Amino acid sequence: MVEKREQWGSRWGFILATMGSAVGLGNIWRFSFAMGSNGGSAFLIIYLVSVLLLGFPVMLIEFSIGRRSQADAVQAFSKLAPKKPWFLAGGLGVLAAFLILSFYGVIGGWSLRYTFDYMTGGISGDPSDYFSQFIGSAAQPVAWQFLFMALSIGIVYVGVQKGIELTSKVMMPLLSILVVGLAVYSMTLGGTREALAFMFSPEWSAFTDPNIYLAAMGQAFFTLSLGMGIMLTYSSYLDPESSLPSSAAIIIVLDTLFAIISGLIIFPALFAFGLDPSEGAGLVFIVLPTIFEGLGGIGTLVGLIFFILFSLAALSSAISLLEVSVAYFMRRFNLSRKTTTLLSGIVISLIGILSSLSQGAVDIEVFGDSFLDFVDAFTGNLLLPLSALISVLFVTWSWSTEDILHHTDIHGKAWAEPLIFTAKFIAPIAILIVLAIGIINW
Ligand code: PHE
Repeated sequence: MVEKREQWGSRWGFILATMGSAVGLGNIWRFSFAMGSNGGSAFLIIYLVSVLLLGFPVMLIEFSIGRRSQADAVQAFSKLAPKKPWFLAGGLGVLAAFLILSFYGVIGGWSLRYTFDYMTGGISGDPSDYFSQFIGSAAQPVAWQFLFMALSIGIVYVGVQKGIELTSKVMMPLLSILVVGLAVYSMTLGGTREALAFMFSPEWSAFTDPNIYLAAMGQAFFTLSLGMGIMLTYSSYLDPESSLPSSAAIIIVLDTLFAIISGLIIFPALFAFGLDPSEGAGLVFIVLPTIFEGLGGIGTLVGLIFFILFSLAALSSAISLLEVSVAYFMRRFNLSRKTTTLLSGIVISLIGILSSLSQGAVDIEVFGDSFLDFVDAFTGNLLLPLSALISVLFVTWSWSTEDILHHTDIHGKAWAEPLIFTAKFIAPIAILIVLAIGIINW
Protein backbone atom coordinates (compact mmCIF):
# COMPACT_ATOMS: atom_id res chain seq x y z
CA MET A 1 0.00 0.00 0.00
CA VAL A 2 1.76 3.17 -1.09
CA GLU A 3 0.50 6.20 0.79
CA LYS A 4 0.97 9.71 -0.57
CA ARG A 5 4.09 11.34 0.90
CA GLU A 6 3.12 13.50 3.83
CA GLN A 7 4.08 17.19 4.18
CA TRP A 8 4.40 19.70 6.99
CA GLY A 9 1.47 22.07 7.30
CA SER A 10 3.73 25.14 7.51
CA ARG A 11 7.37 26.20 7.68
CA TRP A 12 7.02 26.97 11.39
CA GLY A 13 5.58 23.52 11.92
CA PHE A 14 8.76 22.12 10.41
CA ILE A 15 11.00 24.42 12.44
CA LEU A 16 9.25 23.59 15.71
CA ALA A 17 9.31 19.85 15.02
CA THR A 18 13.00 19.99 14.14
CA MET A 19 13.66 22.05 17.23
CA GLY A 20 11.74 19.43 19.19
CA SER A 21 14.23 16.90 17.95
CA ALA A 22 17.23 19.07 18.66
CA VAL A 23 16.15 20.23 22.10
CA GLY A 24 16.31 17.23 24.34
CA LEU A 25 18.18 15.52 27.10
CA GLY A 26 21.30 16.75 25.33
CA ASN A 27 20.53 20.39 26.11
CA ILE A 28 19.37 19.97 29.65
CA TRP A 29 21.45 17.13 30.97
CA ARG A 30 24.31 16.28 28.61
CA PHE A 31 25.26 19.93 27.95
CA SER A 32 25.44 20.78 31.62
CA PHE A 33 27.52 17.83 32.63
CA ALA A 34 29.77 18.06 29.56
CA MET A 35 30.35 21.72 30.38
CA GLY A 36 30.65 20.98 34.08
CA SER A 37 33.35 18.40 33.60
CA ASN A 38 35.19 20.20 30.79
CA GLY A 39 36.14 23.51 32.26
CA GLY A 40 32.94 25.54 31.92
CA SER A 41 33.34 28.58 29.71
CA ALA A 42 36.25 27.25 27.63
CA PHE A 43 33.97 24.39 26.64
CA LEU A 44 31.18 26.82 25.86
CA ILE A 45 33.33 28.87 23.50
CA ILE A 46 34.62 25.83 21.59
CA TYR A 47 31.11 24.45 21.49
CA LEU A 48 29.77 27.68 19.96
CA VAL A 49 32.50 27.64 17.32
CA SER A 50 31.75 23.96 16.55
CA VAL A 51 28.07 24.66 16.18
CA LEU A 52 28.81 27.43 13.73
CA LEU A 53 31.56 25.76 11.71
CA LEU A 54 30.33 22.18 11.83
CA GLY A 55 26.71 22.16 12.93
CA PHE A 56 25.43 24.74 10.48
CA PRO A 57 26.94 23.32 7.26
CA VAL A 58 26.17 19.71 8.18
CA MET A 59 22.57 20.55 9.04
CA LEU A 60 22.17 22.45 5.79
CA ILE A 61 23.59 19.50 3.88
CA GLU A 62 21.22 17.02 5.53
CA PHE A 63 18.31 19.37 4.82
CA SER A 64 19.27 19.70 1.17
CA ILE A 65 19.49 15.93 0.65
CA GLY A 66 16.06 15.43 2.22
CA ARG A 67 14.26 18.23 0.45
CA ARG A 68 15.81 17.46 -2.90
CA SER A 69 15.04 13.73 -2.78
CA GLN A 70 11.67 13.85 -1.00
CA ALA A 71 12.53 10.40 0.31
CA ASP A 72 13.48 8.53 3.49
CA ALA A 73 17.05 8.44 4.79
CA VAL A 74 18.15 5.47 2.66
CA GLN A 75 16.16 6.05 -0.50
CA ALA A 76 17.27 9.68 -0.55
CA PHE A 77 20.78 8.60 -1.47
CA SER A 78 19.82 5.82 -3.86
CA LYS A 79 17.39 8.15 -5.63
CA LEU A 80 19.94 10.94 -6.08
CA ALA A 81 22.86 8.61 -6.87
CA PRO A 82 21.51 5.28 -8.15
CA LYS A 83 23.78 2.25 -7.94
CA LYS A 84 26.35 4.09 -5.84
CA PRO A 85 27.25 3.12 -2.27
CA TRP A 86 26.29 6.55 -0.77
CA PHE A 87 23.04 5.06 0.57
CA LEU A 88 25.21 3.50 3.29
CA ALA A 89 25.13 6.89 5.02
CA GLY A 90 21.35 6.61 5.25
CA GLY A 91 21.54 2.98 6.35
CA LEU A 92 23.92 3.90 9.17
CA GLY A 93 21.64 6.78 10.13
CA VAL A 94 18.57 4.56 10.35
CA LEU A 95 20.50 1.99 12.36
CA ALA A 96 21.77 4.72 14.68
CA ALA A 97 18.30 6.19 15.19
CA PHE A 98 16.88 2.74 15.87
CA LEU A 99 19.54 1.88 18.45
CA ILE A 100 19.64 5.31 20.10
CA LEU A 101 15.90 5.22 20.65
CA SER A 102 16.22 1.85 22.36
CA PHE A 103 18.16 3.43 25.25
CA TYR A 104 16.73 6.96 24.94
CA GLY A 105 13.39 5.31 25.78
CA VAL A 106 14.89 3.95 28.97
CA ILE A 107 16.04 7.39 30.13
CA GLY A 108 12.71 8.86 29.02
CA GLY A 109 11.09 6.24 31.25
CA TRP A 110 13.23 7.29 34.21
CA SER A 111 12.16 10.89 33.75
CA LEU A 112 8.47 9.93 33.61
CA ARG A 113 8.93 8.00 36.82
CA TYR A 114 10.51 11.04 38.51
CA THR A 115 7.70 13.24 37.17
CA PHE A 116 5.25 10.88 38.79
CA ASP A 117 7.27 10.88 42.02
CA TYR A 118 7.25 14.66 42.26
CA MET A 119 3.55 14.69 41.45
CA THR A 120 2.98 12.52 44.47
CA GLY A 121 5.14 14.33 47.00
CA GLY A 122 8.77 13.88 45.91
CA ILE A 123 11.28 11.11 46.38
CA SER A 124 12.05 9.59 49.74
CA GLY A 125 15.42 8.86 51.31
CA ASP A 126 18.88 9.51 49.94
CA PRO A 127 18.59 10.56 46.25
CA SER A 128 21.61 8.52 45.24
CA ASP A 129 20.34 5.30 46.85
CA TYR A 130 16.88 5.98 45.53
CA PHE A 131 18.16 6.32 41.98
CA SER A 132 20.39 3.26 42.00
CA GLN A 133 17.70 1.18 43.61
CA PHE A 134 15.17 2.24 40.98
CA ILE A 135 17.32 1.73 37.90
CA GLY A 136 18.73 -1.47 39.38
CA SER A 137 15.34 -3.13 39.71
CA ALA A 138 13.99 -5.26 36.89
CA ALA A 139 10.32 -4.60 36.26
CA GLN A 140 9.76 -0.95 37.28
CA PRO A 141 12.10 0.84 34.87
CA VAL A 142 10.93 -1.37 32.00
CA ALA A 143 7.32 -0.51 32.75
CA TRP A 144 8.14 3.24 32.67
CA GLN A 145 10.21 2.77 29.52
CA PHE A 146 7.22 1.13 27.85
CA LEU A 147 4.95 3.96 28.91
CA PHE A 148 7.37 6.48 27.43
CA MET A 149 7.65 4.46 24.22
CA ALA A 150 3.85 4.13 24.02
CA LEU A 151 3.58 7.94 24.05
CA SER A 152 6.16 8.26 21.28
CA ILE A 153 4.49 5.53 19.24
CA GLY A 154 1.10 7.20 19.70
CA ILE A 155 2.35 10.51 18.27
CA VAL A 156 4.20 9.04 15.28
CA TYR A 157 1.26 6.71 14.61
CA VAL A 158 -1.00 9.68 13.91
CA GLY A 159 1.34 11.05 11.25
CA VAL A 160 3.60 13.95 10.30
CA GLN A 161 1.12 16.80 10.37
CA LYS A 162 -1.45 15.72 12.93
CA GLY A 163 1.00 13.87 15.18
CA ILE A 164 4.52 15.26 15.13
CA GLU A 165 3.78 18.81 13.95
CA LEU A 166 0.81 19.39 16.19
CA THR A 167 2.45 18.08 19.36
CA SER A 168 5.61 20.08 18.62
CA LYS A 169 3.54 23.23 18.26
CA VAL A 170 2.17 22.69 21.74
CA MET A 171 5.28 21.28 23.40
CA MET A 172 7.93 23.73 22.23
CA PRO A 173 6.30 26.94 23.52
CA LEU A 174 5.51 25.15 26.77
CA LEU A 175 9.11 23.98 27.07
CA SER A 176 10.36 27.52 26.48
CA ILE A 177 8.19 28.90 29.25
CA LEU A 178 9.24 26.18 31.68
CA VAL A 179 12.94 26.51 30.94
CA VAL A 180 12.95 30.31 31.32
CA GLY A 181 10.78 30.16 34.45
CA LEU A 182 13.05 27.65 36.15
CA ALA A 183 16.19 29.60 35.21
CA VAL A 184 14.78 32.80 36.70
CA TYR A 185 13.90 30.94 39.88
CA SER A 186 17.27 29.21 40.09
CA MET A 187 19.03 32.56 39.78
CA THR A 188 17.31 33.75 42.95
CA LEU A 189 18.96 31.01 45.00
CA GLY A 190 22.23 32.83 45.61
CA GLY A 191 24.70 31.03 43.33
CA THR A 192 24.28 33.23 40.27
CA ARG A 193 27.52 35.17 40.48
CA GLU A 194 29.64 32.03 40.68
CA ALA A 195 27.56 30.34 38.00
CA LEU A 196 27.98 33.23 35.58
CA ALA A 197 31.72 33.30 36.21
CA PHE A 198 31.90 29.55 35.65
CA MET A 199 29.87 29.71 32.45
CA PHE A 200 31.12 32.92 30.88
CA SER A 201 34.60 33.88 32.01
CA PRO A 202 37.08 31.43 30.56
CA GLU A 203 40.27 30.19 32.05
CA TRP A 204 42.59 30.40 29.10
CA SER A 205 44.73 27.47 30.16
CA ALA A 206 41.76 25.16 29.62
CA PHE A 207 42.04 25.67 25.86
CA THR A 208 45.17 23.52 25.76
CA ASP A 209 43.27 20.39 26.80
CA PRO A 210 42.38 18.37 23.66
CA ASN A 211 39.56 16.54 25.44
CA ILE A 212 37.57 19.75 25.60
CA TYR A 213 37.58 20.04 21.82
CA LEU A 214 36.35 16.49 21.43
CA ALA A 215 33.64 16.90 24.03
CA ALA A 216 32.48 20.17 22.49
CA MET A 217 32.37 18.86 18.92
CA GLY A 218 30.61 15.67 20.00
CA GLN A 219 28.07 17.73 21.90
CA ALA A 220 27.44 19.93 18.85
CA PHE A 221 26.56 16.86 16.78
CA PHE A 222 24.45 15.23 19.43
CA THR A 223 22.45 18.29 20.35
CA LEU A 224 21.62 19.13 16.74
CA SER A 225 20.53 15.52 16.08
CA LEU A 226 22.98 15.23 13.19
CA GLY A 227 24.17 12.02 11.56
CA MET A 228 21.10 9.93 12.11
CA GLY A 229 18.90 10.82 9.20
CA ILE A 230 16.55 12.95 11.28
CA MET A 231 17.21 16.28 9.60
CA LEU A 232 17.10 14.52 6.27
CA THR A 233 13.80 12.75 6.97
CA TYR A 234 12.15 15.85 8.42
CA SER A 235 13.21 18.05 5.51
CA SER A 236 11.86 15.47 3.05
CA TYR A 237 8.38 16.55 4.17
CA LEU A 238 9.14 20.15 3.12
CA ASP A 239 7.85 21.69 -0.03
CA PRO A 240 10.62 22.85 -2.36
CA GLU A 241 9.85 26.55 -1.83
CA SER A 242 10.88 26.81 1.81
CA SER A 243 14.21 28.44 2.62
CA LEU A 244 16.75 26.16 4.26
CA PRO A 245 19.52 28.43 5.62
CA SER A 246 17.20 30.60 7.67
CA SER A 247 15.43 27.53 9.09
CA ALA A 248 18.77 25.98 10.02
CA ALA A 249 19.95 29.24 11.59
CA ILE A 250 16.77 29.63 13.66
CA ILE A 251 16.95 26.03 14.88
CA ILE A 252 20.62 26.31 15.81
CA VAL A 253 20.27 29.62 17.64
CA LEU A 254 17.23 28.44 19.60
CA ASP A 255 18.80 25.09 20.44
CA THR A 256 21.89 26.85 21.77
CA LEU A 257 19.77 29.25 23.79
CA PHE A 258 17.96 26.30 25.31
CA ALA A 259 21.26 24.75 26.36
CA ILE A 260 22.56 27.99 27.87
CA ILE A 261 19.33 28.70 29.71
CA SER A 262 19.32 25.11 30.99
CA GLY A 263 22.81 25.81 32.28
CA LEU A 264 21.33 28.84 34.06
CA ILE A 265 18.93 26.46 35.80
CA ILE A 266 21.53 23.96 36.84
CA PHE A 267 24.70 25.90 37.70
CA PRO A 268 23.27 28.66 39.95
CA ALA A 269 21.46 25.98 41.94
CA LEU A 270 24.61 23.86 42.16
CA PHE A 271 26.72 26.74 43.38
CA ALA A 272 24.06 27.91 45.79
CA PHE A 273 24.20 24.49 47.43
CA GLY A 274 27.98 24.22 47.24
CA LEU A 275 27.87 21.19 44.94
CA ASP A 276 30.44 20.19 42.36
CA PRO A 277 29.57 21.04 38.72
CA SER A 278 31.71 18.19 37.42
CA GLU A 279 29.45 15.63 39.03
CA GLY A 280 28.86 13.81 35.73
CA ALA A 281 25.97 11.81 34.42
CA GLY A 282 24.16 11.52 37.74
CA LEU A 283 23.59 15.29 37.69
CA VAL A 284 19.92 15.23 36.81
CA PHE A 285 18.70 12.25 38.75
CA ILE A 286 20.85 12.59 41.88
CA VAL A 287 22.24 16.10 42.26
CA LEU A 288 19.07 17.96 41.26
CA PRO A 289 16.80 15.94 43.58
CA THR A 290 19.25 16.76 46.38
CA ILE A 291 18.76 20.44 45.55
CA PHE A 292 14.97 20.09 45.32
CA GLU A 293 15.00 18.54 48.77
CA GLY A 294 17.09 21.40 50.11
CA LEU A 295 14.55 23.95 48.84
CA GLY A 296 12.00 22.81 51.41
CA GLY A 297 8.27 22.88 50.65
CA ILE A 298 8.52 24.49 47.22
CA GLY A 299 11.12 21.90 46.18
CA THR A 300 8.52 19.32 45.21
CA LEU A 301 6.81 21.78 42.90
CA VAL A 302 10.11 22.90 41.36
CA GLY A 303 11.08 19.24 40.93
CA LEU A 304 7.78 18.48 39.28
CA ILE A 305 8.14 21.35 36.81
CA PHE A 306 11.70 20.33 36.07
CA PHE A 307 10.85 16.71 35.32
CA ILE A 308 7.84 17.68 33.19
CA LEU A 309 10.26 19.83 31.19
CA PHE A 310 12.74 17.00 31.00
CA SER A 311 10.12 14.43 29.91
CA LEU A 312 8.65 16.69 27.21
CA ALA A 313 12.10 17.43 25.83
CA ALA A 314 12.88 13.71 25.73
CA LEU A 315 9.57 12.91 24.08
CA SER A 316 9.93 15.40 21.24
CA SER A 317 13.37 13.96 20.48
CA ALA A 318 12.17 10.38 20.72
CA ILE A 319 9.47 10.91 18.11
CA SER A 320 12.06 12.18 15.65
CA LEU A 321 14.17 9.07 16.20
CA LEU A 322 11.15 6.85 15.66
CA GLU A 323 10.08 8.75 12.55
CA VAL A 324 13.42 7.99 10.85
CA SER A 325 12.87 4.24 11.21
CA VAL A 326 9.18 4.44 10.37
CA ALA A 327 9.76 6.46 7.18
CA TYR A 328 12.34 3.93 6.04
CA PHE A 329 10.59 0.66 6.93
CA MET A 330 7.25 1.91 5.65
CA ARG A 331 8.64 2.44 2.17
CA ARG A 332 10.99 -0.54 2.26
CA PHE A 333 8.36 -3.11 3.19
CA ASN A 334 5.43 -1.33 1.61
CA LEU A 335 3.45 -1.16 4.85
CA SER A 336 1.08 1.46 6.21
CA ARG A 337 2.34 4.11 8.65
CA LYS A 338 0.25 2.67 11.44
CA THR A 339 1.51 -0.91 11.10
CA THR A 340 5.11 0.22 10.68
CA THR A 341 4.97 2.51 13.70
CA LEU A 342 3.57 -0.20 15.93
CA LEU A 343 5.99 -2.84 14.72
CA SER A 344 9.14 -0.74 14.88
CA GLY A 345 8.11 0.87 18.17
CA ILE A 346 7.61 -2.55 19.74
CA VAL A 347 10.88 -3.99 18.45
CA ILE A 348 12.81 -0.91 19.63
CA SER A 349 11.18 -1.16 23.06
CA LEU A 350 12.09 -4.83 23.30
CA ILE A 351 15.74 -4.13 22.48
CA GLY A 352 15.63 -1.31 25.03
CA ILE A 353 14.81 -3.84 27.76
CA LEU A 354 18.43 -4.99 27.55
CA SER A 355 19.64 -1.45 28.24
CA SER A 356 17.24 -1.09 31.11
CA LEU A 357 18.18 -4.39 32.72
CA SER A 358 21.88 -3.67 32.26
CA GLN A 359 21.64 -0.92 34.88
CA GLY A 360 21.92 -3.34 37.77
CA ALA A 361 19.19 -5.94 37.49
CA VAL A 362 21.07 -8.32 35.21
CA ASP A 363 24.72 -8.39 34.23
CA ILE A 364 24.61 -7.52 30.52
CA GLU A 365 27.99 -6.24 29.45
CA VAL A 366 29.58 -5.69 26.07
CA PHE A 367 33.34 -5.05 26.01
CA GLY A 368 33.24 -4.28 29.71
CA ASP A 369 30.50 -1.62 29.46
CA SER A 370 26.88 -1.97 30.48
CA PHE A 371 24.68 -2.63 27.46
CA LEU A 372 23.26 0.89 27.66
CA ASP A 373 26.69 2.52 27.73
CA PHE A 374 27.85 0.27 24.94
CA VAL A 375 24.98 1.21 22.62
CA ASP A 376 25.45 4.87 23.53
CA ALA A 377 29.17 4.79 22.74
CA PHE A 378 28.79 2.63 19.64
CA THR A 379 26.23 4.95 18.09
CA GLY A 380 27.70 8.23 19.34
CA ASN A 381 31.36 7.53 18.65
CA LEU A 382 31.00 5.48 15.52
CA LEU A 383 27.68 5.48 13.66
CA LEU A 384 26.78 9.17 13.93
CA PRO A 385 30.11 10.64 12.84
CA LEU A 386 30.43 8.06 10.10
CA SER A 387 26.97 8.70 8.71
CA ALA A 388 27.48 12.48 8.92
CA LEU A 389 30.86 12.19 7.22
CA ILE A 390 29.50 10.20 4.27
CA SER A 391 26.55 12.60 3.88
CA VAL A 392 28.88 15.60 3.81
CA LEU A 393 31.20 13.96 1.30
CA PHE A 394 28.21 12.93 -0.80
CA VAL A 395 27.01 16.48 -1.24
CA THR A 396 30.29 18.35 -1.34
CA TRP A 397 32.16 15.96 -3.59
CA SER A 398 29.51 14.33 -5.77
CA TRP A 399 27.23 17.32 -6.47
CA SER A 400 28.29 20.10 -8.77
CA THR A 401 28.90 23.48 -7.13
CA GLU A 402 25.83 24.76 -8.93
CA ASP A 403 23.70 21.98 -7.48
CA ILE A 404 25.05 22.61 -4.00
CA LEU A 405 24.33 26.33 -4.23
CA HIS A 406 20.88 25.68 -5.61
CA HIS A 407 19.74 22.90 -3.29
CA THR A 408 21.03 24.54 -0.12
CA ASP A 409 19.48 27.89 -1.12
CA ILE A 410 22.73 29.75 -0.64
CA HIS A 411 22.99 30.89 -4.22
CA GLY A 412 24.20 34.49 -4.43
CA LYS A 413 24.85 34.78 -0.71
CA ALA A 414 28.12 36.46 0.24
CA TRP A 415 29.01 33.63 2.61
CA ALA A 416 28.30 30.85 0.08
CA GLU A 417 31.94 30.28 -0.82
CA PRO A 418 33.39 30.16 2.69
CA LEU A 419 30.53 27.86 3.64
CA ILE A 420 31.25 25.45 0.81
CA PHE A 421 34.94 25.53 1.68
CA THR A 422 34.14 24.71 5.31
CA ALA A 423 31.78 21.92 4.30
CA LYS A 424 34.23 20.47 1.83
CA PHE A 425 37.43 20.53 3.89
CA ILE A 426 37.04 21.63 7.49
CA ALA A 427 33.92 19.64 8.37
CA PRO A 428 35.18 16.26 7.07
CA ILE A 429 38.53 16.69 8.80
CA ALA A 430 36.88 17.70 12.06
CA ILE A 431 34.49 14.74 11.85
CA LEU A 432 37.40 12.40 11.12
CA ILE A 433 39.20 13.68 14.21
CA VAL A 434 36.09 13.17 16.34
CA LEU A 435 35.73 9.69 14.90
CA ALA A 436 39.38 8.77 15.48
CA ILE A 437 39.57 10.08 19.05
CA GLY A 438 36.18 8.53 19.84
CA ILE A 439 37.40 5.13 18.69
CA ILE A 440 40.75 5.42 20.47
CA ASN A 441 39.14 6.50 23.73
CA TRP A 442 36.52 3.80 23.63
N1 PHE B 1 19.30 16.35 19.96
C1 PHE B 1 18.80 15.67 21.08
C2 PHE B 1 19.23 16.27 22.36
O1 PHE B 1 19.88 17.26 22.41
C3 PHE B 1 19.30 14.32 21.21
C4 PHE B 1 19.00 13.43 20.18
C5 PHE B 1 19.98 12.65 19.80
C6 PHE B 1 17.76 13.39 19.65
C7 PHE B 1 19.73 11.81 18.88
C8 PHE B 1 17.52 12.55 18.72
C9 PHE B 1 18.52 11.78 18.32
O2 PHE B 1 18.93 15.70 23.38
